[in-house]
Amino acid sequence: MDFPQAERLRKLPPYLFIEMDKKKKAAIEKGVDIISLGIGDPDLATPDFIIEALYKAAKDKANHQYPLGSGLPKFREAVSAWYKRRFGVTLDSKDEVVALIGSKEGIGHLPIGVINPGDVVLVPSPGYPVYHAGTLFAEGVSHFMPLLEKNGFLPDLDVIPADVLKKAKLIWTNSPNNPTSALAGKDFYTKVVEFAKKHNIIVANDAAYTELYYDGKKPVSFLEVPGAKEVGVEFHSLSKTFNMTGWRIGFAVGNKSVLKALADVKGNLDSGVFNPIQYAGIAALEAPDSVTENIRKIYQERRDLFAAGLKKLGWKFQVPQAAFYFWIKVPNGMSSADWCGKVLEEAGIVATPGNGFGAEGEGYFRMTITVDKARLEEALQRLSKLK
Ligand code: MLT
Repeated sequence: MDFPQAERLRKLPPYLFIEMDKKKKAAIEKGVDIISLGIGDPDLATPDFIIEALYKAAKDKANHQYPLGSGLPKFREAVSAWYKRRFGVTLDSKDEVVALIGSKEGIGHLPIGVINPGDVVLVPSPGYPVYHAGTLFAEGVSHFMPLLEKNGFLPDLDVIPADVLKKAKLIWTNSPNNPTSALAGKDFYTKVVEFAKKHNIIVANDAAYTELYYDGKKPVSFLEVPGAKEVGVEFHSLSKTFNMTGWRIGFAVGNKSVLKALADVKGNLDSGVFNPIQYAGIAALEAPDSVTENIRKIYQERRDLFAAGLKKLGWKFQVPQAAFYFWIKVPNGMSSADWCGKVLEEAGIVATPGNGFGAEGEGYFRMTITVDKARLEEALQRLSKLK
């Protein structure tokens, strides 16, 4: 028997990265030497000392039971200490930190805890697809905020219609941004805090990429701005910072009442992050800065190489100041999906069509520098031969 899917699922487009993975695998099966610049999944290995911490904790049978709750106290303390060190932000590890099974999980679940049917969620377009998916699963309504180049790819809060604002309960912001790599500064976040207070809206800032920055220019945290904790939360991930995508560990920090709602949803749906993975997370968060500096150095070289190569091709893009994404204008007026189809077919390169991140992403495509320099050079070679 073939059972129909629930309407909420049918309202969603197929999950972008699963679809891309299918296309990539089909091309590999045909024998194509694929260069994948699609999903933002680091090719670099998780550092050994993190794996050792996992192994040690996994050997302890006390860690084999349900983890439950908002995370091990020690993990939450490590998050709080890391925030203090990195951003100068003070967090009470008891109720201002929640461990997540990856930031994606928390981003998807938050609306279930704070959104009632028909409530509006302000979602950036282009944006990480999970903001809209989580809204739909909570029976909320997404109002898309265009991220335009002329505004530095930041949402313009002043153009959101008054009737939308009346129903809005949650706004998603994201910096360093996926897919555009744009950065929000304290001035933007100050405006967001004022806006949230005025309209009684929860702010959820996705900060998964703050540690992947270039030229020594550190991105700021939303919580650095006065009043931020009164109105919002921030999501982080160990995935990109420590090459731990598959481990599924992240955290949310900030406003207690919002985190309580998220933790209550999670308490009913999952049983927390496997303790040994939390111990590995502690090892990562307590590591000297040299660990992330080494990772940044690798991406910096790749960014410089790829930016120089794309410039030679004459393509239009802003050199990313953080994150590992290049957000590039489709060079020849094709639709972003057709263009990425052509790039896959003629060059054997997986790139992500901009419209997969929302309607305002049309006209752009995204390339990720999660392959080594030799492969990036090969990719540039192939791209230079596109007709
Ligand atoms: C992306 O490619 O946009 C991200 O890697 C997806 C994710 O982090 O879930």
